[in-house]
Parts: sequence; structure tokens; C-alpha cells
Amino acid sequence: MAFLTLQGISKRYGDFTAIEHIDLDVERGELLALLGPSGCGKTTTLQMVAGFVSPTTGRILLDGRDITNERPEKRGIGVVFQSYALFPHMTVAGNVGFGLEMRKVRRKEREERVADALSLVRLKGLGHRYPKELSGGQRQRVAIARAIAMEPELLLLDEPMSNLDAKLREEMHIELRAIQKRLGITTILVTHDQVEAMTMSDRIAVMHRGVIAQLSTPYDAYERPATPFASTFLGRTNAMAGEVLRRNQRCAEVAVAGTTLHVPHEGRHVDGAVHVYIRPEKVHLANGDARLRGRIVTRVFVGNQWLLEVDTELGKLRVAQPNHGAPPPEEGHEVGLAWTDDDLRVLTQDSPEGAHGHA
Ligand SMILES: Nc1ncnc2c1ncn2[C@@H]1O[C@H](COP(=O)(O)OP(=O)(O)OP(=O)(O)O)[C@@H](O)[C@H]1O
Ligand SMILES: [Mg+2]
Repeated sequence: MAFLTLQGISKRYGDFTAIEHIDLDVERGELLALLGPSGCGKTTTLQMVAGFVSPTTGRILLDGRDITNERPEKRGIGVVFQSYALFPHMTVAGNVGFGLEMRKVRRKEREERVADALSLVRLKGLGHRYPKELSGGQRQRVAIARAIAMEPELLLLDEPMSNLDAKLREEMHIELRAIQKRLGITTILVTHDQVEAMTMSDRIAVMHRGVIAQLSTPYDAYERPATPFASTFLGRTNAMAGEVLRRNQRCAEVAVAGTTLHVPHEGRHVDGAVHVYIRPEKVHLANGDARLRGRIVTRVFVGNQWLLEVDTELGKLRVAQPNHGAPPPEEGHEVGLAWTDDDLRVLTQDSPEGAHGHA
């Protein structure tokens, strides 16, 4: 049985449906990311698990116990809120150790756990400061340390690293994930940062307008998006409108702007109007074996790769070329493009995304 179960959870505010019937199992020790755009219902979902928002329908089970109507402080859940409120009148160490003190953890052990947590978030030596003497990113890290120090069975993190600079965030992804695994803390991480979701989680729930559009491993979420929304939200992709001509066991033959593409359908039923997708990094510049020709309209250097936009008869295609040394041709030049059919994906244009009752 899963450690945390959401059964038929929905949340309505008046006639607005913020969450529409979510079923979700989170396994013990798992880190699950809720990933989605602003307003899709991530915080609402987390707050229902934490107990600060009560669901309109459904039940929440924690370790087999029905906690749907249990008070937040009874649930034994660690939470880092999107607005990481610290106690302003307490030092950093006081904030981090507060919960442990409440729990009557002895002073020596408390001090050790506070020091460990502060060192994890790179704030060793700042224990004596007050929140107002810290930067936004430092305060956010105190909030993370405060939750970690409690070693809760379930940890809820709402955009916990949104105020950290890119480099520190990358380090924290790896370290937080390591400690979460080591302590076996079941964790739900809310984020709209795809890299954060990809690098930290066992599974990603891609949310869209109050429903879970896809629930899978990070690899599958990226490589096998199940809905048009998931295709375009996670990473960049090229979408080409087309029409299914034929379908055999493995592939769909799709007509796209006068060209026929053979696209693996992965057992999905696709018919009629579809979109064919290909990721920019799966399109290569080619000479002899080009499938398509086009003209480079933009060329941008981002360090590890070049991002090109190429005008073709299938429309404008984005191409990402790793920086192997030689720059690609300049803007205005004609180039050939190639790809492998296996890298194409196809989804019916009106694939159900389960969105109901949304403005
Ligand atoms: N108390 C409330 N009353 C009415 N509507 C609400 C309330 N709280 C949230 N909502 C609405 O519910 C939807 C989901 O909000 P939620 O805070 O869960 O989004 P989110 O996915 O966390 O977004 P963000 O990434 O911006 O934090 C939004 O459209 C929001 O306006
Ligand atoms: Mg939110």
C-alpha cells in the first residue's frame, strides 16, 4: 500500500474548480514532483495534504490512516511553504531548532541537528543571525533546514529553491536529493522548474488546469509525453500539424505539409488530425542525407549549444546543436536537416487533457 494516497480529491472555490478529481499514490521514500504552470493547482494540492486547505471531495490517507479531517499539526508533516515564513524574533538557529525544542529533543542533539541542517543548506556559521539580516535566498534555505532538521516522514516542499541563484540551486538539487534518499523521507516537491523536477524526482506528475496530465518517470515524461500539453510544457519541442493516412502495428503514416512521416505510435490510438513532435536536439544539420532543406532565420549561442530556427516547408523548426567547436552556418544560409523516425512522436490534436470547469 502506498504511503500517501489521494483519492478523488477535488477543490472548488465557489464555481471555480481549482482541483478536479485527483487520484495519486506516493510510495514510501519516493520523491514525487508536481510540475506545472502558474495557477494549475500545485500549491492547492500540497496544502490539502498539509491540512491547511480542506478538499471539497475525496480522501487523503497517510500510512493507512485517514487524515482528511485531521488538524495540520497532528499530521506530522514537514512543510516548506512558497512564502517561507520564518519567526522574525528568533535567530536562524532558533528557527531551525524550534520544532525539535517543541518535541523536547535534548539540547545537545538539537544543536547537532541544527548544525547539520545549516551546513546542508550552506549556512554554517549564520545561526546567530536574525531573518531580517539575511538575503531572500538565505531565508529560503533556513526554511529548508528547518524542515529537514525535523526529519519528518513526509516532507512537502513548495518552490523551495525559487530564490536561489542557478548555481546554488543546482548544488542543492543534488544534495537535497541525496539527504532525502539517505533519510528515506517521502517527499512531494512542487515546482515549475523542469530541471529541478527532472533532476530530483523519482516520478513527475505534470499538472495542467487542476488535473494530472501525466504521471511517469522523468525519462518517460520527457521522451514519451502522453498529452499535447505535456509535450510542450516539458522541455522544448517542434509541433507539426498533420493527418494520419495509415496505421500499422508500429507506426502511423502521417502527411505533414506534403511529406509523409513514419511515426512510432507507441500503441496509442491516433487518427485523423494529429501533431507530430520532435525535440530540437533530435534534429541534426545534414548534407547528403538531408530529409528537408531550410533557411536559418535565427542563430543563438548559449554556451553548451547553438539554438537555431530554420524555416522549412514543414514550418519553422527549432534545432539544437551541441557546441562541438565549429559554429553552424550563419543566419540566412540554407541548410539540410535530418532526423531518425524513432525520435518522432505523434498525438491526436484533441487528446483529452481532462480539463473541466476551467476558465
Ligand atoms: N482561496 C482561493 N480562492 C479562490 N481561488 C483560489 C484560492 N486559492 C487558489 N485559488 C485558485 O486556484 C488555482 C490554483 O492555485 P494554486 O495556488 O494551487 O496554483 P499553483 O499551481 O501553486 O501556481 P503558482 O505556480 O503560481 O504558485 C488558481 O487559479 C488560483 O487563483
Ligand atoms: Mg503555488
